[in-house]
Amino acid sequence: MCGIFAYINYLVPRDRKFILDCLIKGLQRLEYRGYDSAGIAFDGGNESPDVIKKPETKIVKKKGKVRALEEELACEKDMKLDIEYDIHCGIAHTRWATHGAPCAINSHPQRSDVNNEFVVVHNGIVTNYRDIKKVLESKDYVFESETDTEVIAKLCKYVYDHRENEDMSFRELVEVVIAQLEGAFALCFKSIHYPSQCVGTRRGSPLLIGVKTKGNLSSNFVPILYRDNRGREFQDDVAYNREGTDSAFKRSFSTTDFEVSGDIKAAEYFFASDASAIIEHTNRVIYLEDDDVAAVMDGCLSIHRMKKEEGESMSREVQTLKMEIQQIMKGNYQYFMQKEIFEQPESVINTMRGRVNFKDKEVILGGLQDHLSEIHRCRRLLFIACGTSYHSAIATRQLLEELTELPVVVELASDFLDRRTPIFRDDICFFISQSGETADTLNALRYCKKRGALTVGITNTVGSSISRETTCGVHINAGPEIGVASTKAYTSQFISLVMFGLVMNQDRISTRSRRNEIIEALENLPNLIKEVLEMDDDIKKLAEELYEQKSILLMGRGFNYATCLEGALKIKELTYLHSEGILAGELKHGPLALVDKAMPVIMIIMKDSMYTKCQNALHEVTARGCAPILICQKGDTESQSKASRVIELPGTVDCLQGILCVIPLQLLAFHTAVLRGYDVDCPRNLAKSVTVE
Ligand code: UD1
Ligand code: M6R
Repeated sequence: MCGIFAYINYLVPRDRKFILDCLIKGLQRLEYRGYDSAGIAFDGGNESPDVIKKPETKIVKKKGKVRALEEELACEKDMKLDIEYDIHCGIAHTRWATHGAPCAINSHPQRSDVNNEFVVVHNGIVTNYRDIKKVLESKDYVFESETDTEVIAKLCKYVYDHRENEDMSFRELVEVVIAQLEGAFALCFKSIHYPSQCVGTRRGSPLLIGVKTKGNLSSNFVPILYRDNRGREFQDDVAYNREGTDSAFKRSFSTTDFEVSGDIKAAEYFFASDASAIIEHTNRVIYLEDDDVAAVMDGCLSIHRMKKEEGESMSREVQTLKMEIQQIMKGNYQYFMQKEIFEQPESVINTMRGRVNFKDKEVILGGLQDHLSEIHRCRRLLFIACGTSYHSAIATRQLLEELTELPVVVELASDFLDRRTPIFRDDICFFISQSGETADTLNALRYCKKRGALTVGITNTVGSSISRETTCGVHINAGPEIGVASTKAYTSQFISLVMFGLVMNQDRISTRSRRNEIIEALENLPNLIKEVLEMDDDIKKLAEELYEQKSILLMGRGFNYATCLEGALKIKELTYLHSEGILAGELKHGPLALVDKAMPVIMIIMKDSMYTKCQNALHEVTARGCAPILICQKGDTESQSKASRVIELPGTVDCLQGILCVIPLQLLAFHTAVLRGYDVDCPRNLAKSVTVE
């Protein structure tokens, strides 16, 4: 939730304007993660860095979107923008409020004191902040914000002021501080006591580092330094006495060629909550693991861990991002969400690329191949997720039961954890997540892992926590999704789960015709999606009729129950209208009381095995004076005669129809929100990646 960005230049001269622009641009890329306030910290003063006597840190913060922060910076008329820094560290943050209302004082960076000796940006929640605050208050620290984060900055100063070792490094100081913290976090620190250095660390929230050097990196691996319980540093299982063998210790300090050759060359580092803020600078990144403490000092990057666990990796790989810069730009669209809806004909192809062989009617999921026999032997399949990702599991449950002949359990991650659901070693647990960072889903994954179940990820974000922590999985390859409302990820998750069902069913002769029918429909799906998207103008007209309503009900059953849930979620999160997805079979058990002439109702009726039952629901509704808006198959005149408005869709195989049906609802939510004057990409109170429980 919240976005962290930091930029460090070392022997790459940059003027202040460049540095501020870089930080602001980084925040804009991360804005979808949280957008109620933003702030940055950088070297202050108007003296040239060559003559500076006393380093100072300037903080600028502002309530509202990053644009407001940019305007605030432009008002700083006395600030010289052409001062050049050979070495500099700037940190920045865009916030989604958890502790304390959105306002400048609560936004980040949070500071240790009025002199800004230590400043910190934070993503996550420190659960024991009250206890730490109490202790610090008893030592006369005065708090100015309502945030949990402020304790971290103040604790830095406390540790610094009470250090026994004058030479304590910034990284060592941060290690002492985070050892006191409970909860989930990603953090970046800056300090006037450690000029131009940056320390970043994570526990439960994502953080990665982009590395940009002129030459190639000498190694694709960053060695990790550990500390044993006597405080000695070691690497590769060899303990170095820090005083005695300083040179050996130093040698392992850095990854990049400049250190190995002993000739320190220019470098730039970018810390960020996700890759979209880094890709325009470099495609070489290091994903930090929980409890890694990464420090940039004198242009060198080092990664440290407090202790070494059994079997733990001794290095972090410098990975190459495959993302393209265009993927995170709006292109000709006004909103990311709109672009992502219209990308669906291509994104579904990318999900199937190299996996579905349409000619031989075969499906291969490379990521699951080695685990299929274990999956076949399991007692049941569990699908655990939140929000839209949860809906993708509801949408495919019936088909998965049919193709795998296994019990399929679908769980909301938060409720699953609340109930402490029993999990067995022969359960196969799937975790579906676009971001791969959703805290509830990630916690559920760790819970199931601990109980010995095989864990499988269905994720869009390569390198995300869920992708890395699951034993195996499927990357849905939908491309970066920036709009807070999930659209193309839903259709790609849907297809990934269908492909999984087909893989499980591959050897069964008796169901071959059903499997062939689905694979043929998958091949034709992109064209049908294009056909549905051509109805955009009609859907816009419908939105013009509906946008002033107070409530919209969506009804359907069978394969389209999930479509109703997902459509209602899109409508409520973007338009702030009340909207409910109702299982048509449940109408008589309560929801029918909501229906009258005035209530807008959208009904989904497709020519599948639920057709007659859906007709019954249609009668129940029309008998109460309501003429619903109907989403139906082309040529279904029987249903259409009772509707006030009709959205006619092309037909496909029953189990994929939900993909075509959800698109008009995505468009309806989009147009309605625009008509109501709301920011479609940044709906109020929400953020893209929910990394807090
Ligand atoms: C891989 C390549 C893809 C290439 C394809 C064909 C990557 C990331 N993918 O795709 O670019 O086109 O081979 O050669 O390089 N995994 C998890 N959890 C998850 C998701 C995935 O553990 O949530 C694991 C998988 O088990 C697998 C690996 O990550 O080991 C890559 O998964 P995926 O991209 O889906 O595999 P392929 O389809 O083989
Ligand atoms: O990244 P995830 O798929 O784990 O996110 C889960 C939900 O937070 C997400 O789908 C949310 O419901 C969307 N904003 C809905 O559009």
